[in-house]
Amino acid sequence: MKILVTGGAGFIGSHLVDALIEREHDVRVFDELVPQVHGAVDGPPAYLNPEVEFVRGDVQDKAALRKALQDVEVVYHEAAEVGVGQSMYEVTRYVNANTAGTGVLLEILANEPHTVQKLIVASSMSIYGEGAYECPVHWVVHPQLRPDEQLEAREWEVRCPVPVEGSKSKAKGSTFQPSNLPTCNRKLEPIPTSEDKPLFPTSIYAISKMDQELMCLSIGRAYDIPTVALRYFNVYGPRQALSNPYTGVAAIFSSRLLNGNPPLIFEDGQQSRDFVHVSDIVQANLLALERDEANFGVFNVGTGRQTTVLDVAHSLAEGLGVDINPEIVDQYRAGDIRHCYADITRIRETLGFEPQVQFEDGMRDLIDWVRRQESSDLVDQAKAELEQRGLAK
Ligand SMILES: NC(=O)c1ccc[n+]([C@@H]2O[C@H](COP(=O)([O-])OP(=O)(O)OC[C@H]3O[C@@H](n4cnc5c(N)ncnc54)[C@H](O)[C@@H]3O)[C@@H](O)[C@H]2O)c1
Repeated sequence: MKILVTGGAGFIGSHLVDALIEREHDVRVFDELVPQVHGAVDGPPAYLNPEVEFVRGDVQDKAALRKALQDVEVVYHEAAEVGVGQSMYEVTRYVNANTAGTGVLLEILANEPHTVQKLIVASSMSIYGEGAYECPVHWVVHPQLRPDEQLEAREWEVRCPVPVEGSKSKAKGSTFQPSNLPTCNRKLEPIPTSEDKPLFPTSIYAISKMDQELMCLSIGRAYDIPTVALRYFNVYGPRQALSNPYTGVAAIFSSRLLNGNPPLIFEDGQQSRDFVHVSDIVQANLLALERDEANFGVFNVGTGRQTTVLDVAHSLAEGLGVDINPEIVDQYRAGDIRHCYADITRIRETLGFEPQVQFEDGMRDLIDWVRRQESSDLVDQAKAELEQRGLAK
């Protein structure tokens, strides 16, 4: 098939491109080569598969995107500005590239003759906000952000937000808005987050990812273009941008360690995420393409396993053979969540997805690649930017 991958020169897109070419698809990449990710470059990164047709362009440029869509049967929409903290002050940059850029793509599909038969959009776990939790009394609860007073007291774990007057049945599965009522306040246990959890994006980045997902599904349904949204959890692996201080934690930590600096850890390091190797993200994307059962669906793509941020820092230091302990900075960031890991029942049962890469093996793979890279460490600068704005306290 003729396939367009927007953002195909990036970390995830480029691995997807390799897999598509291996399956003998005809692949075109449309990517702006954003300097924050690629540096100041004239052409695509050396790792980009030589068999792709590469087109440099911005998804906000309708004429360029229209041209790139010519004869295309499948679109993978991976292009996005990626950075949670940065999105909280470069607001229009994120809204323009992610929300408006997706709007440009969809306007072409809605209004102009095209050959697209399937649209697969990269969504994100960030749209959930806090993950799902269990309270010993109120069963499943979906808390919103932890109150500021709690974080100022350096009490990190999420507490049950159900008002004490609330009955047990009313509490089930509800999302509680912050209120002044006294709450249950028991410590909660994180449980796997399913696609049914109400969405509560807490950053402009996350809001723009939610926009991308909802907009694609809406236009897809209206114009009968089978559309699939994949909610990636925390993706790691080779080709992850190491000098971009706004991206994934594994890349940021590797870059710090390689430059002889300790990884900086917010809160106490016991916050957890679901780290999924990029090859498993590729697997999910191929299933989304090949299986009609995926059409018009949203699917979590993770491992179902919870790993703490401190574990990631220790694994990387051990793997790189450096004796550097992470530095716990005793600060927290506005909008950060405590725990979120995937319930992958839906993608497993509907599409037959099964994560293949264990965390330890995947980290080894990341480390093998990191060792061969040179990266500049811009983390202190990024942290200072957050502090200046009161976004890290
Ligand atoms: N990495 C993760 O952990 C993660 C998790 C959840 C979702 N995602 C999503 O997966 C997708 C790929 O992310 P990634 O980690 O590979 O990031 P990346 O930054 O490596 O890749 C994104 C690519 O998009 C390009 N791009 C950005 N803005 C563009 C624009 N306006 N026009 C054209 N191209 C543009 C960049 O140049 C880059 O090559 C993104 O949509 C991201 O939101 C990533």
